[in-house]
Amino acid sequence: MYKVAAIGGDGIGPEIVDAGKVVLDAAGEKYGFDIDWTDFDIGGADRYLETGELLTEEDLKALDAFKSIYFGSIGDDRVRPGILEKGILLGLRFHFDQYINLRPVRMLAGTRTPPLAGKGPDDINFLVVRENTEDFYVGIGSRFKGKEHRDLEVIRDIYSIKFGLDVESDSEEIAYQIGVISREGSARVMEYAFDAAMKRNHKVASVDKANVLSDVYGLWRDVFTETAARYPEVTTEFTFVDAITMWFVKNPPEWFDVVVAPPNMFGDIITDLGAMIQGGLGLAPPGGNINPKGTSLFEPIHGSAPKYKGMNRANPPIATIWAGSLLLDDLGEPEAAAGVLAAIEQSIAAKQTTVDLGGSLGTREAGAWIADAVRNG
Ligand code: NAD
Ligand code: IPM
Ligand code: MN
Repeated sequence: MYKVAAIGGDGIGPEIVDAGKVVLDAAGEKYGFDIDWTDFDIGGADRYLETGELLTEEDLKALDAFKSIYFGSIGDDRVRPGILEKGILLGLRFHFDQYINLRPVRMLAGTRTPPLAGKGPDDINFLVVRENTEDFYVGIGSRFKGKEHRDLEVIRDIYSIKFGLDVESDSEEIAYQIGVISREGSARVMEYAFDAAMKRNHKVASVDKANVLSDVYGLWRDVFTETAARYPEVTTEFTFVDAITMWFVKNPPEWFDVVVAPPNMFGDIITDLGAMIQGGLGLAPPGGNINPKGTSLFEPIHGSAPKYKGMNRANPPIATIWAGSLLLDDLGEPEAAAGVLAAIEQSIAAKQTTVDLGGSLGTREAGAWIADAVRNG
């Protein structure tokens, strides 16, 4: 029996998580395990608008008891951008020190209209390992006029940092945001990426912007070089983020095997591009926010698509159900994980899917079709 927490969130989040739960339960039936779901009403906007609460101490305490969280999406037009995203999603990632953000970019079999001419599932299949706790996401900065003193802190399981800043400016108004990269934070992500490459095609590409942000990404590059020296079987390269966006599209995307992005922000951006080259947002890849020794959170990489809320037309199969497949893998059920992915591929090939992929099913029905395919798989 696996205990899994479920957080639907905002917009289409609750519907896609519900569809995903049905599939994971079917996988349990087929492969011989049970999932004991606990639903958490940490739906960002409604609760926030009513009570002003984001993540409470009680939420975190209750979630601490779980190894896995199945997550929909956060973000709502009624709340200023950033409040829910930072308060809830980043709050969870940081609280659980989920330092790996794992994002496979893989064109699934059955994809009918590959966005890149002539490219198929054999060509587009790589893994983005995104650092998930550092860089500009640490969330410290300020916006002011004139003179200001700020004590800024970053508290992590593996270190803490204190900045005492006296800033003076005669500009009309200034804003600054501090990006942080640490040696420990870089090393643990790189190790994960190199280990992943050892199980794949033995290539790792690093993404950064060390030609401009040379302190933060200079440190990253040093740690990358040191790590690479311990993995002589792995071929490595450095890329700049602007160039890699071009190479993802230009031939050959199949060049990539594992792409490791220290700059959390670049990892965010390039994986939306990855989603596009492997089939579009309807076929978006999943995201695993992983703490190998703690609680991990699995979610689609797309957002809450508020315009489709409650309409039963969001595409659930790929992103959220695929995220469920990653969750099963993480629980130590690789066969079930593969069964779920194969069922998704069958649904695309058979057009038993949502409108955006050429089918005519609603979110719920598309999920139920995949659940049946898992049972019969
Ligand atoms: P989005 O991913 O929600 O939507 C982008 C476009 O793709 C929209 O046209 C949307 O309708 C469509 N789309 C997204 N998911 C779809 C699906 N499953 N099926 C069919 N179409 C789909 O991104 P956005 O519009 O930039 O952001 C909306 C909100 O989501 C914002 O509040 C943003 O901060 C938040 N967001 C949350 C997460 C998360 O929780 N992990 C990720 C990204 C964005
Ligand atoms: C993602 C999202 C989040 C991120 C936001 C909503 C905080 O875009 O998961 O890709 O930037 O990490
Ligand atoms: Mn994103």
